[in-house]
Amino acid sequence: MMIDFHSHIIPNIDDGSQSFDITKDMLKNSAQEGTTHICATSHYIPGEFEQQKDTYDSAFVKVKEMGQDMGINVIKGLEVYITPNLLELYNNGLIWCLNDRKYMLIELPMREFPLYTEDVFYELRLKGVTPILAHPERNFKIANNPEILKNLVEQGNLAQVNAGSLTGAYGNTIKEAAEQLVKRNLVHMVGSDGHNNERRNTFVKKALSNIKELNPELHKWIKENEINILNGEDVSPLPVRELKKASLFSRLFSKK
Ligand SMILES: [Fe+2]
Repeated sequence: MMIDFHSHIIPNIDDGSQSFDITKDMLKNSAQEGTTHICATSHYIPGEFEQQKDTYDSAFVKVKEMGQDMGINVIKGLEVYITPNLLELYNNGLIWCLNDRKYMLIELPMREFPLYTEDVFYELRLKGVTPILAHPERNFKIANNPEILKNLVEQGNLAQVNAGSLTGAYGNTIKEAAEQLVKRNLVHMVGSDGHNNERRNTFVKKALSNIKELNPELHKWIKENEINILNGEDVSPLPVRELKKASLFSRLFSKK
C-alpha cells in the first residue's frame, strides 16, 4: 500500500490536470511507482476555485473508474484554502473531508501565517474534523520557525509533506525545512501535490524512502496509520521531538 494524500488529478476544475488524458497519464505514472490510493484534493479557494459538489462528484466518478482500471483507488478530497469561515462552509456542505470522513486538507498562504489559523482549526476539531496542514515546509513562516507547526500538531492537527520538498524539487531551503519537520515528527503523511503529467515521477516512493532514512520510527508510523486516516479513524501521532542543537558554550569547548 502507498497513499498519495495530495493530488490535483481531477481534470478541468482547478489549476491541476487540464484533461482526462493528462489525468490518465498521472494515474499511469502513479501506478508504475506503486501508488495504491490517490486523494483527489482539488483546490477550494474562495473567489478563485469554488468547487461545486455536483461538478466535482461527476468528474470524480469518472476518475475513480479510470483509477480502478489501473489498480488505483481514487479517494475524494479537497485542498481547502484557509479563511475565517471554514466551519460555516463545512456546516453548509460546501467543503468536505478526505473520503468524506474526518480529515480535511487545508492550505495556508505561502508567505503568511494567518492569526486566525489556530482558532479555525480548533472550531473544526470541536465539530469532529481534524485539519491536515498541506505542505507546511512551503510556508515561509513555518519553514523559518517550526515551533508554529509544533503548536498546531500538539493541539491535535496533522501535517502533510510534499514528496518533491524532500527530493529537492523546490530547492535546498525547502528540502532542509522538510527534513527538519520529518526529523521532529512534525509531518504525518506524504502527498505528490501533482498538477500535471510533465514529470514521470510523483516522488512519493522516493520521499517515503527519504523519510525512512531520516526517521525510521516516523516511516513506520506512516505505514501503520495511513489507511486509518483515509478511513477516518483516530490516530495517535508520535510525540514531537526536539532537535539537540549544540549550544555556543558546548561548541566553544568541543574545539579544545
Ligand atoms: Fe495542492
